[in-house]
Amino acid sequence: MKITKIALGLFTAATVFMVGCSATQSVSEESLGLRSTSLYSEVDVIPVKTEYIKNAAGESQLIDRAFENAPPMIPHNVEGMLPITINNNACTGCHTPGVAESMNATAIPKSHFTNFRPDTSLAKNGRITKEGKEVTNTSDFKVIGKPLTKVSGTRFNCSQCHVPQTITGTAPINEFQVNFRTQGHNKKSNLIDNINEGVNTIK
Ligand code: HEC
Ligand code: HEC
Repeated sequence: MKITKIALGLFTAATVFMVGCSATQSVSEESLGLRSTSLYSEVDVIPVKTEYIKNAAGESQLIDRAFENAPPMIPHNVEGMLPITINNNACTGCHTPGVAESMNATAIPKSHFTNFRPDTSLAKNGRITKEGKEVTNTSDFKVIGKPLTKVSGTRFNCSQCHVPQTITGTAPINEFQVNFRTQGHNKKSNLIDNINEGVNTIK
C-alpha cells in the first residue's frame, strides 16, 4: 500500500515536471543541426573547403598516433605522389628502411615486410593445402608470419591506410584522449613485437 502511494507520488511529480518543461522550453529546428543555415534548403549551401596540409615532405611535423599501433597520418602533402600504381610508388622512395633514416623519414616497419598469409593451393584430390600441408579445416591452420625482403603486396597501397589530414576545423570538437600502454607510442609503433609476443616461447 505504502509503495503504491510512493509510486503514485513520483508519477505525479514527474508529470508536473514534464508539463513544466514543455511549457518553458522550445528548440527551433534550425538550431538542431551543426550547420548554421536552413535545414530545408540547399540553395547557397557551400560546404567548408577541404584543405590539406601544405608542408612538403621533410618540412612537416609528425602527428601523434590516434591510438596504440594506429597507422600514422601523413603529415606532409602528397601532391604528385598519388595515385600509387604498380610501377610507381613514391612513398617507398623515401620510407624504405635504409633510405628513410637519411631522409629523416620514419622507416616502413617490419610488419609491412611480413607475409601473414599462408601459401594456399588446391591439391589434385580437391583438398586445400596450406604451406604444403593438406588441411581438413582451414581454420585449424595457424597463421604464420614470414619475413619478406620486399614490402608485402597487402601493404603496397600505402594510402589505403595512411592518409593526409585536412586543416579544416571539426564540428563538434574531437575530445578523444588516448592512453598509451607504453611511453613514446604516440610517435612509434611496435605491432610486430605485439604479434610475436609469446610466439617465440612456443617450442
Ligand atoms: C620526399 C620524401 C618523401 C616521400 C616521397 C614521402 N614521404 Fe612520408 N615522410 C617523409 C618525411 C621526411 C617525413 C617526416 C616528417 C617530415 O619531415 O615532413 C614523413 C612522414 C610520413 C609519415 C608519418 C610517420 C610518423 O612517424 O608519424 C607517414 C605516415 C608518411 N610520411 C607516409 C607517406 C606516404 C604514404 C607517402 C606516399 C604517398 C609518403 N609518405 C611519401 C618523406 C617522404
Ligand atoms: C593495410 C594497412 C596499411 C598499409 C597498406 C600500409 N600501412 Fe603503414 N602502417 C599501418 C599500421 C596499422 C601501422 C602501425 C602498426 C605497425 O607498425 O604495423 C603502420 C605503420 C607505418 C609507419 C610507422 C612505423 C613506425 O615505426 O612507427 C610507417 C612509416 C608506415 N606505416 C609507412 C607505410 C608506407 C610507406 C606504406 C606503403 C608502402 C604503408 N605504410 C602501407 C598500416 C598500413
